[in-house]
Amino acid sequence: MRREEDHNVPRHPHLEEKTSDVASGSYRPATIPKHRVISIAVSSQKGGVGKTTVSINLAHSFARAGVKTLLVDADPQGSVGLSLTRQSRLLTGFYDYLADPGIPLDRLIVPTRLETFSLVASGQASDYEAGGGGMGTHLARVRAFLRSIAARGFDLCLIDTAAGLFGVTGDVIASVDAIMIPQQAEPLGIRSVPKLLEGLSRLRVVNPRLNVLGVCLTMVQNDLAESTEAAASLRQLLPQEMVFQTQIPRDGLFVRASARGLPIGVLEDGAGAQVVFDSLRAEIEAKFEPSYGQQAAYG
Ligand SMILES: Nc1ncnc2c1ncn2[C@@H]1O[C@H](COP(=O)(O)OP(=O)(O)O)[C@@H](O)[C@H]1O
Ligand SMILES: [Mg+2]
Repeated sequence: MRREEDHNVPRHPHLEEKTSDVASGSYRPATIPKHRVISIAVSSQKGGVGKTTVSINLAHSFARAGVKTLLVDADPQGSVGLSLTRQSRLLTGFYDYLADPGIPLDRLIVPTRLETFSLVASGQASDYEAGGGGMGTHLARVRAFLRSIAARGFDLCLIDTAAGLFGVTGDVIASVDAIMIPQQAEPLGIRSVPKLLEGLSRLRVVNPRLNVLGVCLTMVQNDLAESTEAAASLRQLLPQEMVFQTQIPRDGLFVRASARGLPIGVLEDGAGAQVVFDSLRAEIEAKFEPSYGQQAAYG
């Protein structure tokens, strides 16, 4: 589906972008990638576990550290789009790119005030318009997307996916370098983890180079026995390297930030919570050493 008004890409109301970025080096012709971009999907079978919250805040942490970061909303009901503008539904986004091979990548990329941080909304085409849930349908297009990003000099592409491991999300997982799995620290949530890992081993067949970064415990309530016990039992259930040391605490700040569609680090009182995501970032960087450390463009 083609929409002419897409040329007037609305700008982010809070993270006022540097408009000059639009016409800058990101418009290099798509030839051989300038360097390698690392792509990470943030996925889980369940919804409401903190995927979007982790994606936005982690992407912001990388960008603040000077890593040229692209945050992609690959959830058709996505809310990363919210962080763009209330009119985010008018943005040409990821699903439009999948549905229409005529759309150039440049039309999707929305710069922010932070020079190293850009976003791609989910767009107007729904999952259905993009061809429905058949896995493999969008593989070629998803891979073209990732190649085009590399050609534009991004260091990192973080993809916030819809819940579940099939359909477009399956194609994303089959194409990225790595995956991380947010997991709510409550008993019911923990019980679904073995099933998730089973699903992931199936996806490793599709994508043998998939690097499973691990499970990230979210919404941990340190003052609630059920929550800390759930976190502890997950750590017993999985190999140590499969669970991030960093746990995301349950904090009203995240709800406030997501209502405004912002990374917490941008809130006046968000500096403390930002530290949590900086430590998650450090863990991810360590998992990519040495290749990542050599290539990331720290400013
Ligand atoms: N650490 C947290 N503390 C408190 N609320 C959170 C936290 N992480 C997420 N939330 C809230 O929980 C809800 C679901 O989170 P979200 O990131 O949208 O999950 P998902 O993308 O997996 O569906 C949102 O309202 C969000 O603001
Ligand atoms: Mg989400």
